[in-house]
Amino acid sequence: MKVQRTLPPSAAPIEFRDLIEGLLGLLRPQSTLEQLQAEFGQYFGVKHVWFVSSGKAALTLILQALHGLSGREKVVLPGYTCFSVPSAVVRARLSVALCDVDPLSLDFDFAHLSKMADSSVLCVLATHLLGMGIDVPRVVELCRRQGIFVVEDVAQAFGGHRGDIPFGAMGDVSFLSFGRGKNITCGSGGAILTNNDRIGEALAREYTPLPDVSLVGMLKNWLEVAVTQLLIKPSLYWLPAGLPFLKLGETKFYTDFPVSRLDPIRVGLLRRWKRRLDKSTASRVAHSEQILRSLAVADVRTLKPFERGQSVYLRFPVLMRSKQEKDAVCRLSARQGLGISSMYPSSLQHIPELRDALSSQEVPKSTAIAERLVTLPTHEFLSDSDVVRISDALQAAQRVAGAETRCPSDVANGQRPGSPLPRVN
Ligand SMILES: Cc1ncc(COP(=O)(O)O)c(C=O)c1O
Repeated sequence: MKVQRTLPPSAAPIEFRDLIEGLLGLLRPQSTLEQLQAEFGQYFGVKHVWFVSSGKAALTLILQALHGLSGREKVVLPGYTCFSVPSAVVRARLSVALCDVDPLSLDFDFAHLSKMADSSVLCVLATHLLGMGIDVPRVVELCRRQGIFVVEDVAQAFGGHRGDIPFGAMGDVSFLSFGRGKNITCGSGGAILTNNDRIGEALAREYTPLPDVSLVGMLKNWLEVAVTQLLIKPSLYWLPAGLPFLKLGETKFYTDFPVSRLDPIRVGLLRRWKRRLDKSTASRVAHSEQILRSLAVADVRTLKPFERGQSVYLRFPVLMRSKQEKDAVCRLSARQGLGISSMYPSSLQHIPELRDALSSQEVPKSTAIAERLVTLPTHEFLSDSDVVRISDALQAAQRVAGAETRCPSDVANGQRPGSPLPRVN
């Protein structure tokens, strides 16, 4: 454990006033909830809004509702995404089908998606991973003909939009996450949004019997939020970052998560959501631009930002040239406390619990993303000198690993080891 300035890979700071609002939520549970529903409905331009215990819980309820409407069972997921997503599919007793992902945009490989989109598919998860905007209208057009629902996964992209339309308002139904490290947080929470009355009615049937959280559960979450707020500051983050048993940032496949309503304390914690979201988005956009400029000078390859809207990078994606390079930069980051992180350890195909079901569903591009992607922090704690140090670390890792290795794609492209890649941006 090294006592030094240490950046968390992602952070959603909240103010003391928000913690107080959380406790006040207990005094006026119904009116605070109704106000939040109305505000989200207006922001997304949708009629139906529900708040639940997590993004996974939201997705589980959506899948159960859609299954009730069409009877189909196949859920198409991007081959590279958070392990919570297949967890929810399995929890809803449906089957996972993998579509490969374009490594330069993190959008679907549309050639693959159009082959998969037949009348056996219940829905496709259009996922704005890392806050990168993907082409949801194109997914909708492809799915419409086959009666496939489009579920927009906005867990990592709250605040982004395509033109004037917020991410989350383009699919048939969408969900948000308010987990730790998301755009805004209340500890753990999620929202479901839809403008479709038929889906709305089916969801209301799923939501009505959900249990409430106990008072002890509510207070425990509040305390965790308060302690997290203290420890995510770069001056103190060395402490939790140095405790491996906390397993910070680890992504897990598990299906026994709670599915409940969002409790009044968490609703209260979200009361000033718009102010916090605006602040978070402004700093992510500004830092992403700064990082882009810095990496362009350093000739480090980044993923392609969405052109027709505004991606709001929850973390800034950089595709290293090889696994060796990725490992080198992650080691450097751990030593220097830079908050560079490697995201998910594999494509969904290689999650041990799903290996049998998915062994024949090859997603080579998603596997390559898992091997080469690193993400840079964009949150409010990032300083100008952090951006310079991060850029230096990426260059240093390229020098060290590039001299030693040739990655498969370099071989395929006929490139010399360590030679600069064509700039994507
Ligand atoms: C892309 C994506 N979808 C869904 C989820 C699930 O959200 P939650 O953690 O709130 O269950 C996450 C969580 O990290 C996510 O990153």
